[in-house]
Amino acid sequence: MGFNSAICSILLFFFIALNSIYQSSAIETEASQTALLFVNTSEASAKEIPENLFGIFFEEINHAGAGGLWAELVSNRGFEAGGPNTPSNIDPWSIIGDDSSLIVSTERSSCFPRNKIVLRMEVLCDNEGTSICPAGGVGIYNPGFWGMTLATTNFKASHVSNWTKMEVLLQAQGTDAKSRLQLTTTRKGVIWFDQVSLMPTDTYKEHGFRSDLFEMLKDLKPGFIRFPGGCFVEGEWLRNAFRWKETVGPWEERPGHFGDVWQYWTDDGLGHFEFLQLAEDLGAAPVWVFNNGISHNDQVDTSNVLPFVQEILDGIEFARGDPQSKWGFLRAAMGHREPFDLKYVAVGNEDCGKKNYVGNYLKFYSAIKKAYPDIKIISNCDGSSKPLDHPADLYDYHIYTGANNMFSSASKFDQVSRNDPKAFVSEYAVNGNDAGKGSLLAALAEAGFVIGLERNCDAVEMASYAPLFVNTNDRNWNPDAIVFDSAQAYGTPSYWMQHFFRESNGATLLSSTLQANSSSSLIASAIVWQNSDNKKYLRIKVVNFGSDNVTLQIFIDGLELNSVPSFGLTKTELTSSNLMDENSFQMPKKVMPVKSSMEDAGGKVDIVLSPHSFTSFDLLMKSSSIRMVGSDNADSYFM
Ligand code: AHR
Repeated sequence: MGFNSAICSILLFFFIALNSIYQSSAIETEASQTALLFVNTSEASAKEIPENLFGIFFEEINHAGAGGLWAELVSNRGFEAGGPNTPSNIDPWSIIGDDSSLIVSTERSSCFPRNKIVLRMEVLCDNEGTSICPAGGVGIYNPGFWGMTLATTNFKASHVSNWTKMEVLLQAQGTDAKSRLQLTTTRKGVIWFDQVSLMPTDTYKEHGFRSDLFEMLKDLKPGFIRFPGGCFVEGEWLRNAFRWKETVGPWEERPGHFGDVWQYWTDDGLGHFEFLQLAEDLGAAPVWVFNNGISHNDQVDTSNVLPFVQEILDGIEFARGDPQSKWGFLRAAMGHREPFDLKYVAVGNEDCGKKNYVGNYLKFYSAIKKAYPDIKIISNCDGSSKPLDHPADLYDYHIYTGANNMFSSASKFDQVSRNDPKAFVSEYAVNGNDAGKGSLLAALAEAGFVIGLERNCDAVEMASYAPLFVNTNDRNWNPDAIVFDSAQAYGTPSYWMQHFFRESNGATLLSSTLQANSSSSLIASAIVWQNSDNKKYLRIKVVNFGSDNVTLQIFIDGLELNSVPSFGLTKTELTSSNLMDENSFQMPKKVMPVKSSMEDAGGKVDIVLSPHSFTSFDLLMKSSSIRMVGSDNADSYFM
């Protein structure tokens, strides 16, 4: 997967006071077992799977957005990372030249009120006279987020005065992952730089999303996207939490902020508008997690929380309001006149149990329901073990654990209430030693757990793996679904595991029962799903978490599928020779699903599940001579 950013648009905000010119464990098996899977196609025992059951959770963690999905190549583009006071931290900008040729400092003289810091560059050398500049010029450079993927190109700008916006299209001659942006000159003078942006032109619909990473998300067919965090939303301290109003409007006017939980600066190019746009581009329902006046270390008292409530009402108006409304007007001005389809909000993240949570929650709940009765509100409190003591449409549930515990948690929702509120399993993953940096073992355990969620789709309304992304240069949380650097990306086995559930949203879950002497290491589900040509398929998914081969006999309404002559069956298998196998930049496809066809096999077919594997079987449903027992429905004909 290549990230082609050969063509970039550079936007520079600066002014020049004096004349200046710049250039710019091996799987072993002997034993074999037999298992029987009984699938019942009767409507009476079937369940409709929610349209949004499987989605994704995007958090600004591991440089997932800044230096990741958000394609901006310049890091700390406004020189604001050190905060509002001078001297400011210009990291990762560096200086080309020495004290004898230039003086670089920061000042508070931007024309933008929310981000006052600018960089002042006084050039002492010249292209003539006694103090000649070095051949390459002097100036500053930005390495981006551990390198930019483009190659050498130059541009020249002419003399300007006062603050001037300059835009240049750079066409690179090739690709080099270690490129950087240099702004150099050989002319004496003073240049002030304010906002410097280098944006690839090949982002998705030019919406700013790095195309290879965006496509990997799109391939998951997510039913929803939860954003922008996680702990990122809370902050270690409220002053550093994500606050949506600071992230909207023209990019050059956004102040940016230091995310103190994951300890990095973000220019907030990926802001509230862009998250909503991302959801729309993915065809996923946006799920906005907002700060409810509680961080990891401080809390707003419920008696003082109303400004936070108003801020969230304004954020919903920004998403859904009429273009005539105050915040709907800003959205329209940013290029999206039509409202975004925001129907889910989550009040905080992992805050249940904190002193002010329920009090604050109730203030948000009543204000949002009054203004937007259709919006579904998600509580942080776990309603799976005991009923909530407050109203909610969904309750949040997070699970990070070892592989065995994850696999056995497939039954977690078997006994919970089928009444509202339903569960939102918004963060799940195997972590610790079992996971490495994304192992097959972790993916198999998660597959078992997610099959359990699918089987309980009348108690679980939504589920997402976490975290979604990691830039390998800032691996803050391990493991993650998608691994990337400035030039390349690959999916971990957990990413590929999610592909098996891509057709589940809106499908029909059939009742199914497994019989096996090793049933504790097997779990299965059966769904009927429809492709874009309106063809219906029966999909059976099975995880073999054990180390034996398993011969599977499938019975559909009592008829043994394996012995039916001439049937078409597509098999997709996720496995590898070693349980701890991972993908890497060197071997990005070592562990990924492999498809094979059992078209017109004829006679009896042995369906064998490899040890430590996740397998799905897709069987086209069509009218023919063989009719499934127990149904009058034409869809019950296979083969
Ligand atoms: O997914 C990483 C973190 O795990 C999230 O920020 C937080 O919600 C959870 O603790």
